[in-house]
Amino acid sequence: MRTTQGSFIPPSEITPESVWIGRRRWLQQAALGSLALGAAGLARAADDESPVGPVLKAPLDARWSTTEKPNGWRDITTYNNFYEFGTGKGDPSAHAGRMALQPWAVKIDGAVQHPMTLDIDDLRRLAPLEERIYRLRCVEAWSMVIPWIGYSLSHLLKQVGPTPDARYVVFTTALQPDVMPGVRQGILDWPYTEGLRMDEAMHPLTLLTFGVYGRELPAQNGAPLRVIVPWKYGFKSAKSLVHIRLQSEPPVTSWMRAAPREYGFYANVNPAVPHPRWSQATEQRIGSGFFAPRLQTRPFNGYADEVAALYAGMDLRQNF
Ligand code: MTE
Repeated sequence: MRTTQGSFIPPSEITPESVWIGRRRWLQQAALGSLALGAAGLARAADDESPVGPVLKAPLDARWSTTEKPNGWRDITTYNNFYEFGTGKGDPSAHAGRMALQPWAVKIDGAVQHPMTLDIDDLRRLAPLEERIYRLRCVEAWSMVIPWIGYSLSHLLKQVGPTPDARYVVFTTALQPDVMPGVRQGILDWPYTEGLRMDEAMHPLTLLTFGVYGRELPAQNGAPLRVIVPWKYGFKSAKSLVHIRLQSEPPVTSWMRAAPREYGFYANVNPAVPHPRWSQATEQRIGSGFFAPRLQTRPFNGYADEVAALYAGMDLRQNF
């Protein structure tokens, strides 16, 4: 006698459980969304180009935004680098949904007059949010255009009162080994650490970022808050911040420690200085199609008018 029981394969065995859980969560969200929107919402909620997640709106800041067409929601939220969750571009969207996001606080200390620990709601309310459409150029020679939501990091740094010793800012990001498969594999020296010189951190383009596309940041993009530094290679834009420290000495960042010849402290987008293993002269815009011509990468990712003066007199081959 045949039973159907033996042929039943639970979905959790076909797909890795975390991928399956992520997908199930997405479907639940989509279902909730369509209930709220009514029948007309059904098609929209099922369309993976439609942003999902809690709404976070802000007026467009045209002064600091490119007029290039932003990438779609799907590219931005499924083609990611977040090594805590693995090295594959799809790993963050598959696994990051398991990160614990509440409660969330960021400690700001070091060379400051007023060290403080602020929770995510305090941080979000600290200054008016703006939408900034930035180009993001990854060191792996691909790029996207992304409508971020946040405010200049300088607003927060002014609150803590930097002392004259504050010459560098160090960002440390969340470490939750139980839900971060990449951390267990030891790809980098964790927690992920990045840094900026104080004048870079105070530049109005440097965005403390809480959202994207009119929604709160999805986990894979660095929820609940990250930094975005658009004239530098993407790895400088640390995700899921928990600690901001001001200090007199330049930090040794995670990538510098992993491969000092390949990743420098400055990491300004520079088509004239190749990565030791590949050219940085051109880039592939994600979503533009396989046969689309590669774009010429611009110095400082096209933000030279705004930031080149920060590096006057410096040899940018030495300080890569
Ligand atoms: N932040 C953390 N904590 N861990 C990471 O692995 N990857 C960086 C950066 N921030 C990374 C990180 C790299 S290499 C890039 S290109 C950008 O995040 C990618 O951001 P996105 O996935 O939102 O496009």
